[in-house]
Amino acid sequence: EDKVSVGLLGVGVVGSGVITLVEKHQEKLAHQLGCGVDVKKALVRDPNKKRHIEAEIDGTVLTLDPEDVLNDPDIDIIIEVMGGIDEAREHILNAFAAKKHVVTANKDLVALHGAELHEAAAKHKCDFYYEASVAGGIPILRGITDGFASDHIEQVMGIVNGTTNYILTKMHNEGVSYEDALKEAQELGFAEADPAADVEGLDAARKMAILGRLAFSTYIDLEDIEVNGINGIELADLQYADSFGFIMKLIGFAKFDGKQVEVNVQPALISQEHPLADVKNEYNAVYVYGEAVGEAMFYGAGAGSMPTASAVISDVVTVIKNMHRGVTGSQFVEPRFKKELKTDDQ
Ligand code: NDP
Ligand code: HSE
Repeated sequence: EDKVSVGLLGVGVVGSGVITLVEKHQEKLAHQLGCGVDVKKALVRDPNKKRHIEAEIDGTVLTLDPEDVLNDPDIDIIIEVMGGIDEAREHILNAFAAKKHVVTANKDLVALHGAELHEAAAKHKCDFYYEASVAGGIPILRGITDGFASDHIEQVMGIVNGTTNYILTKMHNEGVSYEDALKEAQELGFAEADPAADVEGLDAARKMAILGRLAFSTYIDLEDIEVNGINGIELADLQYADSFGFIMKLIGFAKFDGKQVEVNVQPALISQEHPLADVKNEYNAVYVYGEAVGEAMFYGAGAGSMPTASAVISDVVTVIKNMHRGVTGSQFVEPRFKKELKTDDQ
């Protein structure tokens, strides 16, 4: 076939990046895949809204009707980048029922309903991938599931939220107020639709749940994660820390000893000599500690239109390769360990 048709749910920060990148990198995609990629239809709320798409939208039809996208027989792959939980979940389940493969950047949905979505994908023999859901453009999920496939991962930790890292960097380095820094992060497209998820640490907790699940091959419930955000942090707090040579970062931590999982998200003061202190603005960095590999660090843009789109399209490439090979795949590995989480009295 000449082109594989893709349907997009959402043309916001990430969706616009997907359209732009698919157009820009068409030749490379065709070289790798032996076929092109066509974003045929896209679901939006307001078709008249101005969108930041660098390339020409080569015939992508904008629609207000999800059925238009989900039931188009030409479309093989659905990319969900609309965000939110209930509607996105329903559309993805309908996509699987219509035998379409799904790629999503939606960590809220994967952290909350990942098991159900994986089950539906398997039932309908569809692919389900979500590389962009954790750490934006960094291929951390592939790194964990493929790169360390033979290793025993003991710990994963680092900076997994771009918005809070942007806020803390601007406050610490430039003396910008918390409110102004948050506003900038929103304008740059890093923040969630409701930025409370970022600043209260929930976004990071959801990412740590996904990371932990894949790294340790066990279930992690969000309610078992201790979460503290950076809301309430003031410039004076950061200046005081600075005077002792420390900088504040929002750190996600997940550890597994073979029996118990411990996951938390906390603002932490770290030495300005530590490599994480150099992770600035919307950048993320994740350390993985494996029995065989020792320590490995993944670093790069954790949010934003093009980096996230790059991760989304890498999943689309994987799906198309699977289609050509006649196999189905997903980011998920059936957990080897049953849930046995640490509680306060242990
Ligand atoms: P935006 O708010 O920028 O875009 C959302 C898009 O979805 C818009 O085009 C909007 O339509 C459309 N949309 C939302 N709800 C509906 C609905 N009910 N019906 C039809 N269309 C709808 O979000 P982002 O692009 O920033 O984020 C999308 C997803 O990607 C989220 O899950 C987010 O967590 C995730 N993500 C975002 C990153 C980032 O850096 N921004 C990085 C990694 C993941 P309209 O334009 O008409 O309003
Ligand atoms: N709001 C998220 C962040 C987007 O700031 O990290 C990337 O997942």
